[in-house]
Amino acid sequence: MVKIKIDNREAEVPPGSNIIDVAEQLGIEIPTLCYLKGYEPSTSCQVCTVKDRRTGRLIPACGTKVADGMEIDCETDEVFNVRRTALELLLSEHVGDCRAPCDFACPAHMDIPLMLQQISDEELRSAIMTVKEDIALPAILGRVCPKPCEKGCRRKGADSPVAICDLKRYVADMDLATDDPYLPPCKPDSGKRVAVVGSGPSGLAGAYYLRRAGHACTFVEKNEQLGGRLRTEESEEDLPRDVLDAEIKQIVRLGVDLRMQTAVTSKEQLDALREEFDAVLLAIGKTTPEKVELLGLRAAKKGIDVDKETYSTNRRGVFAVGNLLRGKGMVVRSAADGKEAACIIDQFLAGKRILSLGYEFSSRIGRVESGEIDEFLAGSITAELAVPDFGTNYDQNDAGEQSDRCFDCTCSSHGNCKLEYWSEFYGANPNRYPRERRAYEVIGRESSVFFEPGKCIKCELCIKIAEKASEPLGLTFVGRGFDVLVSVPFDGQMDDALSKVAADCVAACPTAALSFAEKRRGPTAVVQLDIPVGAEEAAQVPNAP
Ligand code: SF4
Ligand code: SF4
Ligand code: SF4
Ligand code: FES
Repeated sequence: MVKIKIDNREAEVPPGSNIIDVAEQLGIEIPTLCYLKGYEPSTSCQVCTVKDRRTGRLIPACGTKVADGMEIDCETDEVFNVRRTALELLLSEHVGDCRAPCDFACPAHMDIPLMLQQISDEELRSAIMTVKEDIALPAILGRVCPKPCEKGCRRKGADSPVAICDLKRYVADMDLATDDPYLPPCKPDSGKRVAVVGSGPSGLAGAYYLRRAGHACTFVEKNEQLGGRLRTEESEEDLPRDVLDAEIKQIVRLGVDLRMQTAVTSKEQLDALREEFDAVLLAIGKTTPEKVELLGLRAAKKGIDVDKETYSTNRRGVFAVGNLLRGKGMVVRSAADGKEAACIIDQFLAGKRILSLGYEFSSRIGRVESGEIDEFLAGSITAELAVPDFGTNYDQNDAGEQSDRCFDCTCSSHGNCKLEYWSEFYGANPNRYPRERRAYEVIGRESSVFFEPGKCIKCELCIKIAEKASEPLGLTFVGRGFDVLVSVPFDGQMDDALSKVAADCVAACPTAALSFAEKRRGPTAVVQLDIPVGAEEAAQVPNAP
């Protein structure tokens, strides 16, 4: 037997064991991408790097056998940084969008392609659930939003953007017209109370997400009616009051208390609220530095001074959002502020260290060329370039037709991809090593298995699995260096190459380079009230973006 220490924990293992297997026995997790138990390690990704304390060398845990007296470190800053660099090098030639461009462009980061898919499937209840995961006021925003999502829509490169905003409005209107409009579930009562001062878009969204997190909420509103600038600045024509009232009613139905005609303009009034409530969310809209100072808070040029990452004011337990911070901004930006601040307040009320929500990993293709647009068109349901114009009077047929124009740009492995997971965990920056990228392309559209070369990290696992299973045709690498590519020999089809082990190869592929054509993405939008996976770690490491 061989004695070895990993992170100062001792193990006695048979000679010939790999470090990675010993670490697993000790319950120490080491990231891997190119390694699969039962197959000879290719040590191509270097994501499993550890440090041999005695030699000072950085070595791949998957491809290194144990030696007597070995002492291995997995948790040092040096190891962390090497792993992150390994990921960043892989990402430098990666061609994929973890999340769709429209999702990025939307300040509330709604899962737009999922909503479009649900509309197309005539699953409107599911569609409103998707919408309301990220947007508290979809019927209102469907009327007053300047549609930044559509500016980011990839379909624009082919003809015109998908009418995302009108479709969101359609889903929301259809929901409000039912006897039982959708109310999202709320977590059990936390016993904590939050005062939301002001009830414009940021206050409404803040209350919505705070209630969903289980906190008691009270609107403290200076006017006779809720709505803030939605009521005072939007015309009746743009935003009919019955729509505004109906959507506000939905938020109040979540169990928000009301304290109307109560202005908060002085430090004494804020003191009293702070005394009465566990936290205060200020959402009072555009103001002046003088008025901020009257509240006993620090002013900035455009309003109140907050930590931009956490919406915290200089007073503990007092947070601020919306136009109070920036003087002027899109309604959707204010609504997104409310959602993000609620998440921060949730951490505060739980007594956790407040972490910024700023970092969420995503690989992005960026600007695409016209040839690449053709590739997306080839994969879309509606390839013809005609632009249906339904105005805002959608029926289900029109809405389905419009939704079918979507390219579904979100990666099929989003939420289920090892490269994405570890990149998020290590705070990898996909742009750290800019390189000319390969063109986006999908090979094997006629097969049940798709191959996306731009997402392949050349781990060789699919080739080895096919070989071990004695696939008659199998897969091989062709080309050299940057241009090396997994290919089917003799120009064969993927289905022929993987006649026995297609499912094993797709499951083993650490990215979405191999995927089943019929696979449809399930909901990945989760309530953002918990710390996103990896964010805590990312926030604690040096240089995390
Ligand atoms: S393969 Fe993984 S990292 Fe690449 S785009 Fe898809 S989810 Fe993101
Ligand atoms: S084509 Fe669909 S998924 Fe892609 S950006 Fe447009 S709406 Fe989003
Ligand atoms: S396609 Fe094959 S070589 Fe490429 S990442 Fe997937 S399993 Fe690895
Ligand atoms: S080098 Fe070890 S998992 Fe890739």
